[in-house]
Formats: sequence, structure tokens, C-alpha cells
Amino acid sequence: MIILGIETSCDDTAIAIVKGEGANFEILADFVSSQEKLHSGYGGVFPALAKREHQKNILPILVKSLKKVGMLQKNENGLDDKKIKKLEVILERNPELFRQLKIFLEKYQKPTIDKINVTIGPGLEPCLYVGVNFAKALSFYWNIEINAVHHLEGHLLANYIEQDPKILFPALGLIVSGGNTQIVLIENIGKYKIIGETRDDAAGECFDKTARLLGLGYPGGKKISELANKAKTNKFNIVLPRPMIHEKNFDFSFSGLKTAVLYETKKRSQKELESEEYRTEISKEIENAIVEVLVKKLEKSIEKHEAKSIIIGGGVSANKKLKKEIRAIAKKKNINFSAPKIKYSADNAAMIAIIPLLSSNFKKISWSRIKPSANLKINGL
Ligand code: KG4
Repeated sequence: MIILGIETSCDDTAIAIVKGEGANFEILADFVSSQEKLHSGYGGVFPALAKREHQKNILPILVKSLKKVGMLQKNENGLDDKKIKKLEVILERNPELFRQLKIFLEKYQKPTIDKINVTIGPGLEPCLYVGVNFAKALSFYWNIEINAVHHLEGHLLANYIEQDPKILFPALGLIVSGGNTQIVLIENIGKYKIIGETRDDAAGECFDKTARLLGLGYPGGKKISELANKAKTNKFNIVLPRPMIHEKNFDFSFSGLKTAVLYETKKRSQKELESEEYRTEISKEIENAIVEVLVKKLEKSIEKHEAKSIIIGGGVSANKKLKKEIRAIAKKKNINFSAPKIKYSADNAAMIAIIPLLSSNFKKISWSRIKPSANLKINGL
């Protein structure tokens, strides 16, 4: 089976082509067009701009992917005018994409793809719409089955790409990205229960917002972590809160941490703020505070649910300190731990393509009912 994956939930336009059956699959093509540089001036993702970029980039990335796998073949049969009329309706919110797609469909024939998987949520609605409309247009015109998939399930199952995560169930999943922070009880692939989540900002958002306060640009997680690793002094004696760490539930709250960083920086002179010591010390304390809260709550949830494995996913799962601390807990409790390869911790379409291959609980939704859902819960499909 050959599956095309499409992902546009935030600021990455991604297309992947995967071949396989069940857990035996191979990533044939995997391209991501990142908008990081574009949004860095705004200190976060600007939805209207992200939508525009998705519309501009999605077809060129599809062409690149099809070319890579040898599926870009000349079309000798012209266009199906009746279908094109319906395509215009499907893409009425994306007229420029419709124009480009029409040219593409006239030029190239239907590829040998069996299924199209598209992220329907959670994410930024204008961005999700581009991917969903595009996927529905291709599915309709080429008459290929379409699957609606959950972005966060993709982040968890990214652990199965190019490695054997050896996950035993019940497992606990920690999803930590720019838009989400959740602890999920995984009874089996496809069977999830959210047992804790953030009440305000996500962990990645906290990294990004505090990085912005420190003038480090967007996205901030990697930059804060790099600076934290360089900290050699403790001259400023910075102490930030660990929000909700002692509460019995498994929820998080990171917006207070951002405010605490704001007040901390206000106490300092411009010279201090710009000094290497201050920047590295505050970065270390920010990273420590975020990681400590995540790890403590995860540890408590492992005890309560007698989990046999821990898996993490999402952009923040690339964080070395977080992985080190969770690995230590897994060792102490004698359970498995898996994190995705760095390349697959961030948004990508390979993780979207593989979901129905791995999940025997996968639920199909009909073409007409597939639509974006910005706040879709992982157990809500
Ligand atoms: O999953 P992801 O690629 O997409 C969104 O949900 O938007 O996650 C991006 C997030 C950003 O907040 C970024 O700052 C964070 O992942 N991130 C990191 C690291 N690398 C990326 N946070 C902490 N440490 C890192 N090494």
C-alpha cells in the first residue's frame, strides 16, 4: 500500500509518501517547508501569513515528492472538465491553489497512490483548511480514499519511524509541542485517554514566549536549551516558579512562568540583560523549571497508572535535558522509554501517513464529513 501524508496544522507545510503494510513501512519521500524564518519577526506563528505560505508551498512540495518516487508521469488525456468544476468548489477558499492545481492535473497523471491521509486537527484553523481542502481535492479528482488523522497521534506514533520503540501497553505518552502539552494514557495504539493537559500555554509556547522576552527570536526552545548548556555561573541567583508541581492532578500551567520571567528581566539593567552570564543563567533556570514540572507530573502518572512504557513526542521532545531526565525515571522504574528521532519530533507528514498502518482501532470518516477541527481531542476522532 502506498500512502500520501499531508500536514499543514501550524507553520510547516509537509508531504510524505510511505509504502508498507502494518508496522513494516518505508518512507519513500518526506519533505517539509518550514516557515520559521518568516514568523521569527512576530515572535510566534501569524495564522494569516502561515495560511498564505501553505497555499504557496503545498503543490511544489507534492511535485517534489512525486518526482522523488518516480510518480510524476505526463498526462496525455487532458482534464476532466466536470470534475474540475467541483474542484473549484472544494477549493473556493483557496483560488490561487485551485489555479495551480488545475495546471498540475492537466500536465501529470494520477500517481499510484492508494490512500491520502490528512491532518484535520488540532491546529490553526486557517492552516488546517489548506491541507484538508487540498487533500479532498486530490482525493476527489483522482478517486483515492482519504483518511482524516489526528496531529497528536502522529507525534506519538512518530516513535515508530526508522526505529523500534518497543512500546508495551499500557503506556504513557507525553506530548510536548508548540501548541500542546498533554499526558495521555495509551491502552493500545488508537486507544487514548487524556489524563493531564495544560490549562493555558503549552511547554513549547513557554519556551518560545520566554525566548522572545529575552530577544532570542522564534522558535525559542532550541535557543534556550543551547544557552542553558553554556551556563557556567550562578551569579544572578535566578529562581523561577514550578507551576502546579505539587498539585495532585496531572495538569500543567505555564503562563505564570512566562510572567515570572518578565518580572525577573525587569529587575535587571540593560547591561546585565545583554551579558552572557545572565542570558545563560536565565535560560538554564527556564529549562529547569519547564523540564522539572513535566518530569514530576509524568513520574506521578506512571505510578498511578502502572505504565509499562513511556513515549514522548512533539517539538519539545527534542530537548536533551527532558529526554535525559525521563530516561533516568524509566531506568529507575524498569520500564521502556522511547523518543522519536530528532527529525521526526517536529511537525512532519511521515507521522501522518503511517497512523492507519499502525492502528487497528483506526476509524474511517466519509469524504463529506472530513473537515478541520482546531481543538480536536486525541480521543475525539
Ligand atoms: O511539534 P512542533 O514542531 O510544532 C508545533 O506544535 O508548533 O513543536 C515546535 C516547538 C516550539 O515551541 C519549539 O520552541 C520547540 O518545539 N522546540 C524545543 C526544542 N526544539 C524545538 N523546545 C525545547 N528544546 C528543544 N531542543
